[in-house]
Parts: sequence; structure tokens; C-alpha cells
Amino acid sequence: MNGREHQSKHQKKKRKKRDEEEQEQRKETPPTVTIAVPGSIIDNAQSLELATLLAGQIARAATVFRIDEVVVFDNKGRSSDVSEKTRVKNDDENEEGAPFLLRILRYLETPQYLRRPLFPIHKNLKYVGLLPPLDAPHHLRKHEWSPFREGITLERNPSNTTGTLVDVGLSKNVVVEQVLEPGIRVTVAMGTDRSLETDCLRKVVPPMSPREEGLYWGYKVRYASNISSVFKNSPFKGGYDHIIGTSEHGVKIKSSELVIPAYRHLLIAFGGLGGLEESIEEDSEMKGKGVNDVFHSYLNTCPLQGSRTIRTEEAIFISLQYFQEPINKAEQNKSLKESR
Ligand SMILES: C[S@@+](CC[C@H](N)C(=O)[O-])C[C@H]1O[C@@H](n2cnc3c(N)ncnc32)[C@H](O)[C@@H]1O
Repeated sequence: MNGREHQSKHQKKKRKKRDEEEQEQRKETPPTVTIAVPGSIIDNAQSLELATLLAGQIARAATVFRIDEVVVFDNKGRSSDVSEKTRVKNDDENEEGAPFLLRILRYLETPQYLRRPLFPIHKNLKYVGLLPPLDAPHHLRKHEWSPFREGITLERNPSNTTGTLVDVGLSKNVVVEQVLEPGIRVTVAMGTDRSLETDCLRKVVPPMSPREEGLYWGYKVRYASNISSVFKNSPFKGGYDHIIGTSEHGVKIKSSELVIPAYRHLLIAFGGLGGLEESIEEDSEMKGKGVNDVFHSYLNTCPLQGSRTIRTEEAIFISLQYFQEPINKAEQNKSLKESR
């Protein structure tokens, strides 16, 4: 082989490696959809039963429409997201607004077999049993097989020098190769060995792994003390790259004509009784800003409404259905571009 041939082979190899790395990177971050919802909607519910039902409807909408993240925001002037902790009350106290909604959303997203160890008894969970289950793909029954399972770490593997026992909701605990503290929720790649009788070591993987494989795996829940913190404190690298606000004052476009650009992390925001305009006005970090400065588009998703007001929980279902086709098209365009 002469020098030139050797160089071109080397370059080809390098290019192949770079392509593979790029492909891997893309696989690592599937596009995500976040919804932002005000915690104040809970305060308008007249009883604990009705507040629970309302929170359950949001959880159902998020699951039905494969939402990756739900942000519950307050309308506080200053941003300090740590205040969620200070607002979470003792077990025997009633929580209001955001802390209540966060608790119910997190509880419902958790597979049934993990709820008892992960959620201490709380007064505000009194009526969750009445809610329709989310029946999400990670809410697996004992007899069901799936390439991934959510689990809780137990003790160190007693029969081996390494590894940890994990309850993944099967008739027998599995062993993962990592050594982990007890009581942590983990995502376990189950591998190909379906037998629970062998010493097969499974693996704890990043929580996004099932999503990378195209499975919907529930939503994450986050607190934001005001609307600006919703945008600022995104857990996604690079933040949200397309942000939509919803309102009866928004632009009216047919769903089939709406074009959402190819995005990595889409955010759709919903307002409370006073709408998103009020949330922006009340946020001291957004002084002088209007909806057009905050959102890439501000849309009316139900232009022919018969009632004078659409409630937030209704608007979430209506809007997510309205956005379904444009979101699909945006995701298809993105994969097309990437495969070229
Ligand atoms: C009670 S409404 C607030 C009313 C307010 N005037 C507004 O901006 O729509 C609560 C939330 O429901 C959503 N919403 C209500 N009507 C809507 C519509 N026609 N199109 C899109 N979203 C709507 C918005 O997110 C709004 O902030």
C-alpha cells in the first residue's frame, strides 16, 4: 500500500468514526416535549377530592400525549426554585397549589410496585386510589416482560461479591452489577435472559435509555417558582429551543397548517386563571416583556370555543391534541435531516 492509499484509508476510518459518534450523540438526546402548568389551578378546586381529580387529569394528559417533562410553576416575583422544599408540608398538613400538584404527579408516574417504598403516607394522597391509572409502558405487571424495568435498590447482593439487589416488580428481585445505596429508584436494562433463576447480572442505565430506544417512559416533574424559572432552569442541555404559549388571545392557525420547526426540546406553556400574560406581568425578571418576547409563538388552539373560558386542564387536552400532528411532522423532519 502506498502512502496516499494509506492516508485515504485512515481518513475514511476517521470519518466513519466521526459519523458513528454523531449518530450516537443524536441517539443520546431524543427530542423531548415539556409542558408547563401553574400550581395555582389547584387552589381553585373546592375539595381534596376535586383537587386530586384535577391533578390526575394533568397526569393522564401528559401520559396520553407522551410528555417527557411537566413543570409546575408558581407566580412568585423572585425566582428561587429551592422554595419547593420549604412549601412541602408535614405529613398531616394540607398542601396547596404547586406542592400538592407535584406530589400527585410524581406519585402517579411511579409504577405501582414502587409507590409504597418511595412515598410515605400523606394526607393529600388520600384519594389517589380513586384515580384512573396512567397505564404507561413502564407500569408493568408481574408477568410482563420489557427490555427495561423501573426498580428500587435494596441491599448489597448477598450471594456475590459485587452488585445490588433491585426490586423491579417481578416475582423475584434481580441483581444489577453496580454497587448502589438502598432506596434509590433506578432504570434497569433487563438484558436477554428472561429467567429469574439464573445468576444473570443486569445493569442500571440512565433514565433516558428507554426513550432513546423509542419507548415512552413517563414524565419527569420539576418545580419552578415563577414563569422565568421554567425557561431558565431547564434540565436539558442547551435549554428549550422552541417555546409555545397558549391562550384564547393567541394567533388562530389550523393545526394542519401549523409548522413547528425541528426542535430538540420543545416547551408548551399553559396559564392559570389570569392566563400566561398575568404570569409574565407578575414576574419581576420579566419586567417590560410581553408574550411575543417570551414565546416563539402564542397560539389559540380552540378558536371556536362556546364557553367563555376554557379551563387549564381542558386546554391541556385540547392543545396537546392540536399539537400532535405538527409535533410529529417536526420530529419526522428532524430525523430526515439527520439521516442525510
Ligand atoms: C382560564 S384560561 C385563562 C384565560 C385567559 N384569558 C387566556 O389567556 O386564555 C387558562 C389557560 O387555558 C389555556 N387556554 C384557555 N383558552 C385557550 C384557547 N382558546 N387556546 C389555547 N389555550 C387556551 C391557556 O393556557 C390559559 O392560560
